[in-house]
Amino acid sequence: MSERSSGHEAMPPAANAPLPPGPKGVIRKLKRIRALQTEPLGYMQGVIRDFGDISYFKLGGLSSYMIGHPDLVHETLVEKARLFVRTPNQTETIARLVGKSILTTDGDFWRGQRRMMQPAFHHRRIASYADVMVRRTVRMLDGWRDGARLDAAHEMMRLALGIVSETLFGAEVSGTADRVGEAVETGQKAVTDLSMLLMPVPAWAPLPQNAAVRRARAALDAVLLPIIAERRARREDTGDLLSMLISAQDEQGGEMSDEQVRNEAMTMFLAGHETTANALAWTWYLLSQNPDAAAQLRRELDDVLGGRLPTLEDLPRLAYTERVIKESMRLYPPAWIITRMPTEDTTLGGYRCVKGAIVVMSPWVLHHDARFFPEPYRFWPDRFADANETPLSRKAYFPFGDGPHTCIGNTFAMMEARLILATVASRFELDLAPDARIETQPLIALRPRHGVPVVLRQRAPVPEPIRA
Ligand code: HEM
Repeated sequence: MSERSSGHEAMPPAANAPLPPGPKGVIRKLKRIRALQTEPLGYMQGVIRDFGDISYFKLGGLSSYMIGHPDLVHETLVEKARLFVRTPNQTETIARLVGKSILTTDGDFWRGQRRMMQPAFHHRRIASYADVMVRRTVRMLDGWRDGARLDAAHEMMRLALGIVSETLFGAEVSGTADRVGEAVETGQKAVTDLSMLLMPVPAWAPLPQNAAVRRARAALDAVLLPIIAERRARREDTGDLLSMLISAQDEQGGEMSDEQVRNEAMTMFLAGHETTANALAWTWYLLSQNPDAAAQLRRELDDVLGGRLPTLEDLPRLAYTERVIKESMRLYPPAWIITRMPTEDTTLGGYRCVKGAIVVMSPWVLHHDARFFPEPYRFWPDRFADANETPLSRKAYFPFGDGPHTCIGNTFAMMEARLILATVASRFELDLAPDARIETQPLIALRPRHGVPVVLRQRAPVPEPIRA
């Protein structure tokens, strides 16, 4: 990183600071916009290669910055977090489905929600979900057969959706939760389609995607509002996330309205399954391509578990399992892009950063930068062993974001991913199907575009019958 773009030098007043370098000329800029739409990951890498760790781009009324150094990410997401808020393009489309929630707001409203909801994600609280995670995985494996072909991405999505359903609503409403899951899926697809359109589309525009979002929202209301009302009337803590949302109180003892509980519950559904499912889908792909790492994983599982199902207590001893997940999220971070917008003129890395601009940063780009991760395209889980980590690699790794908006579900997600990986890999090897086409598809989450088709190989001998 150049001297000029270091985040720690004396800050000139915003108006006097120079703008960062960037492409000049309308044609060049239009070409870049095209590249951004067709191949965003390569495009972002190219911008950093061509212009350095911070660059500036203006076309029409839109100013944008691309940053590619951990110091600049830290300055944006942590040091100046109050100034750099979420961008409307990031939140408005999602808010059409889930309304005002912890994921779609900023400022005082967001702060109040975050404070109220944080205890629901405390380690002690989510520990009780480990059983749900393993039991649901075992139920999935009951349908798997040696030699069968399936799409690991699809299986992981269904599994993660089932887990978030049950941890939100508890087992007794799992039938209802499945209906909610379906509506969330439909709504999410429509939201993704809307966010991929070239221009922002207002909610009133007569488009099939807008209609689909409205239908999904109505379906969700019909299911969720009666459950919330009934739960509130019962006033009993059933241990699930919904109970926590209903009983959460702000500093003055105020509670969320039923509508707010519904918004936050829908947000959990939305934020809480696709990311984890994609992280696991990529993990299966990577393991299929790296037999040595896969063998090391199985050795650890056999040593620690000896054929039984994993529990929460086993996780500290499953160090390699954790590294596999971390390395998979380094190479394929599900949240591949994070954007922010300064609410006033300021500086970033000593350069002028204009109010209302979009600041773009990408975990994918930083995670593939050889300055921070040697041999960045190699799958090497042991780079996360203490002895191999460096202060810079730690700073450059941010699959869950950073600062006050850091993923509230990160402990939940890491617990879920490790338990699923341990349960499945103890019993099956997943070989990539010979005709598989693996390509990244950067939508809201980084997905495998054509799924991850695999052929199952049951591990023999299975030491114990699988029992939930
Ligand atoms: C591997 C799985 C996951 C990944 C990679 C991931 C990634 C992220 C990232 C990068 C952010 C920050 C976005 C930003 O700064 O703009 C975030 C925020 C958030 N995540 Fe996750 N997430 C995962 C799983 C989950 C789960 C399981 C839940 C809930 C059960 C969840 C709920 C949320 C919420 C509510 C926010 C907004 C937090 C706030 O703004 O205060 N996420 N996530």
